[in-house]
Amino acid sequence: MNADKFIVPVADRVANLPPYVFATVFGMKEQALAAGREVIDLGVGNPDGRAPDNVIAALNVALNDTSWNCHRYSTFRGLPRLREAIAAWYYNRFVVQLDADSQTLPLIGSKEGIANLMRAYLNPGDTVIVPTPCYPAYFGAVRLCEAEIVEIPLREENGFRPVLGEIPADVAQKARMLLLNYPNNPTGGVCDLAFYAEAVAWCRANKVILVSDIAYSELGFDPDDQPVSVLQVPGAMDVAIEFQSLSKSHNLAGWRVGFAVGGNEVIAALGRVKSNVDFSLFGGIQMAAVEALAGNQQICHDNRKKYEQRAKALVAGYGALGWQVPMPPATMYIWARIPRSYGDDDFRFISEVFEQTGVLLSPGSGFGEYGKGYCRTSLVVDQTGIERVLALLGQADIKWD
Ligand SMILES: Cc1ncc(COP(=O)(O)O)c(C=O)c1O
Repeated sequence: MNADKFIVPVADRVANLPPYVFATVFGMKEQALAAGREVIDLGVGNPDGRAPDNVIAALNVALNDTSWNCHRYSTFRGLPRLREAIAAWYYNRFVVQLDADSQTLPLIGSKEGIANLMRAYLNPGDTVIVPTPCYPAYFGAVRLCEAEIVEIPLREENGFRPVLGEIPADVAQKARMLLLNYPNNPTGGVCDLAFYAEAVAWCRANKVILVSDIAYSELGFDPDDQPVSVLQVPGAMDVAIEFQSLSKSHNLAGWRVGFAVGGNEVIAALGRVKSNVDFSLFGGIQMAAVEALAGNQQICHDNRKKYEQRAKALVAGYGALGWQVPMPPATMYIWARIPRSYGDDDFRFISEVFEQTGVLLSPGSGFGEYGKGYCRTSLVVDQTGIERVLALLGQADIKWD
């Protein structure tokens, strides 16, 4: 019997998933590692920092708490204490008032929540407007619902914000969702409340759900101009839903914890899908998330500083090689046009860099049509790692300007 063969093919919606551009990149990395080569992976946005001590301590307390058995199934909508912590965090951070019970929902990471929201609202053939470059998981989530993606450009000259007025009327008319992500992965672009107000008005006029993903809201570098929430726009609750994650702000990526906030109806619809496919987060992680949200927020401050310093060091180092790249105002990424001699062939550029140095960058085309000709550097190594990266790049035979 052939163990590699299965007698039934996968469903069309899986067979039709777009090819995952990063699979090739991961393949390159695995081959190099198998050959015993040094690899420095700046491709994936996987935070290198440890989870905060107070959050780890809270998990330990929950694990050993005999008065409450966190090892059982949780409740579908998560623990009331976590929902209350989410609502309080939203108020403290954005002065947005939420009903903890009906307007918040803990998630097994925001990636899960975004995909399940699409299952709640998209019918086969529906249209989703995806400004790109974007977080690549959006593509698969839309396709799994057999819906169509219309990409619209995030251009550098517009601060990586979409020009909503340029969306063709026929697209606006058939669209069900508009995805916005600020601070933006991969570009580092940010937006303000005026932009959100415009987006809310556009979505309301076109009866489109505004899906706001603020996974990087705690990684804005300017202390006097911190990222905002779409729910700060008066009346946004009837058209917008917002997703937040503790992965980047609190170094909890592997713990899988995030949450959604929005109006009762949209949160209930998301909860309804979830209750059919999962059982909320592990209780111990929920109690740890309460601590992450309600306790000391020093980790967010430390991460902001850390990523800003790393970005500065790499921008300066790339500049010294002759590769001029802009300093991002937020996130844990540097988004840069590839050197001119490579034209738009971002894949050739990152492949040559990798072949010659073992430093892995992400090809811009993996982030959508409008990522072509760019590449992303994840700021996931410390100062010593950055020095090593720059030394390796300095020895490479690459035309940087
Ligand atoms: C823009 C964006 N949204 C959501 C996520 C997913 O976060 P989580 O770990 O909460 O699923 C990521 C992860 O990289 C991201 O970049």
